[in-house]
Amino acid sequence: MSERTLVLVKPDGVERGLVGEVIARIERKGLKLAALELRTADRATAEQHYAEHDGKSFYNDLVDFITGGPLVALVVEGVRAIPAFRQLAGGTDPVEKATPGTIRGDFGLEVQYNLVHGSDSAESAEREIKIWFPNL
Ligand code: CMP
Repeated sequence: MSERTLVLVKPDGVERGLVGEVIARIERKGLKLAALELRTADRATAEQHYAEHDGKSFYNDLVDFITGGPLVALVVEGVRAIPAFRQLAGGTDPVEKATPGTIRGDFGLEVQYNLVHGSDSAESAEREIKIWFPNL
C-alpha cells in the first residue's frame, strides 16, 4: 500500500551539493516526489520537528544546526515509503550504524551531520508532513 514519508536533506547535505544525489537515489528506488521545497527552517519549525529530542544533550546543537542554513524538505510517496527511505538513508550514525551503499554510509562521518532525515513511523510521517507542508 502506498504511503508518504517526510524527508529532509539537512543543511550539511545542501551545503555539500548532495541534493541531486539524494533525489536520484529516491527516484531510482521507485519512490515518487509528492512535494519539494528549499527553505531555511525557523526555530519554531525545528523545535516542533525535533520535539521528541527536547531535553537531550544534543538538542540545542541540533536545532542550531538544522536552522543554520537552507535545507530541502520533501514528501516522498510509494509502497512502503517510510521503511524504504530509511533503508536508503542508513543508520543514524554514519560510521557506526550506516553501511556503505546508503546515503549516510557513503557520505557521512558524524552523527549530527548525517545529511538526511526520514520519518520513522506512520505516526511520525503524518505529524512531520503537517509541520513542513501544512497545506498538503
Ligand atoms: P535524525 O534522523 O534527523 O533524528 C534526530 C537527529 O538527531 C539525528 O538524525 C541526528 O542528526 C541527531 N542526533 C542523534 N543522536 C545524536 C547524538 N548523539 N549527537 C548529536 N546528534 C545526534
